[in-house]
Amino acid sequence: MILSARSRYAQNPIEEEDIVADGLVKKGKNVVRLNRGDPPVYFPTPKYIINAYISALREAKTFYSRAEGAHMLVEAVQKRYRRMYGINASEDSIIVTQGVSEALGFINSALINDGDSAVIFKPYYPLYVPLLKIYGGNPIMGSYNEASGWGIDSEKLSRMLKALPKSRARRAKYLLITNPSNPTGTVLSRRVLKEIIDIANEHSLLIVSDEIYDEITYNGARFTSVGELAKGVPHIILNGASKDFDATGFRIGFMLVPEHDKTSMAIKEKLADYAKARLSVNTPAQYAVAAAMSNESEHRKAIRSMVRGIADRANFATRLIAENSLFEVVEPNGAFYIFPKVDLKKIGFKSDAEFVDRLLKEEYVQLTRGSGFGAPSHIRIVALPPKDILGYAINKINEFCNRHSRSTGP
Ligand SMILES: Cc1ncc(COP(=O)(O)O)c(C=O)c1O
Repeated sequence: MILSARSRYAQNPIEEEDIVADGLVKKGKNVVRLNRGDPPVYFPTPKYIINAYISALREAKTFYSRAEGAHMLVEAVQKRYRRMYGINASEDSIIVTQGVSEALGFINSALINDGDSAVIFKPYYPLYVPLLKIYGGNPIMGSYNEASGWGIDSEKLSRMLKALPKSRARRAKYLLITNPSNPTGTVLSRRVLKEIIDIANEHSLLIVSDEIYDEITYNGARFTSVGELAKGVPHIILNGASKDFDATGFRIGFMLVPEHDKTSMAIKEKLADYAKARLSVNTPAQYAVAAAMSNESEHRKAIRSMVRGIADRANFATRLIAENSLFEVVEPNGAFYIFPKVDLKKIGFKSDAEFVDRLLKEEYVQLTRGSGFGAPSHIRIVALPPKDILGYAINKINEFCNRHSRSTGP
């Protein structure tokens, strides 16, 4: 067999229906694609960022950058975290990566031996689990609690960790949270965050906090970075340009390991080795993001306008979905996803995968199945398109549900 055993984990449920959708497009069908969370498709990357990229090219910034990240970007990240969260990260605490995706690969490769584990919460961002498994790890599954608005029940988490067999607990390396969450759109409260940090500390788990949507919050939600609360507790913050700077295609992410304890020092040194092993991240994109991050007034204008648009669309789509009695939905207050629970029995489908597949084939609307996020009986809708497109798609979803409800009888 030419392929490795671990290669079977390389898959992404968000894109698994793309071949079907592409086939429908080829046949001339108008497919509404609400599966990929790609903001620039609907909110063009701000002009000042595009111009910064063009300037970097004109200035011939086309060489390999410093492997851990161009100084200019590292300094911009340092300043951003000091300004926004009061976090003082030294230059060697910041590693620039090709998106948070690469950062996750580095972290797993640096920390996970065969048979090790990590605490991940359902519903999770779908790449967390395959990336852990590819490196020989396996998840210890916690869960966000839908009944309490997708928060984390810290007492339950604490009980779960205490009940782990000693051999398994010893091999648990990190605890990973997503705040704000993809797919639920939930922003964790400061209190819950503090409780999670205390629990992770008690169990000697490194905290990894994926904060890629930290500036995309609305409906009165207040975001807190793990770095504001986890003083003296080893943690890694993940972020990047994809969402806040509306530039997914630049492929710029970064990790911060702000603490200076033995664990944090070993991790940051090793992550720098990983960066050196792949030479460089896209250099002009790093200069563009550095300029964007340093231009506070332009960024403020751009992010305000994008978040206002996202909130309007997400709230609109949530209201429409909530009107259909087959769905139960927790209102999102961050990121740009809606994650309703579907009453599959009432419409006669055996799984969320079947729902999503039939919806695409019958109504030409592409969603992602909740089971891809570890939460069967849910669907994820990307609420980025303008309201007329979202309204059209949700109308199609409703027609689809009505048709199938009728056909299963009373
Ligand atoms: C929670 C979360 N983490 C990471 C990523 C990947 O980000 P990047 O574009 O920086 O690789 C995404 C993309 O949607 C995401 O939602």
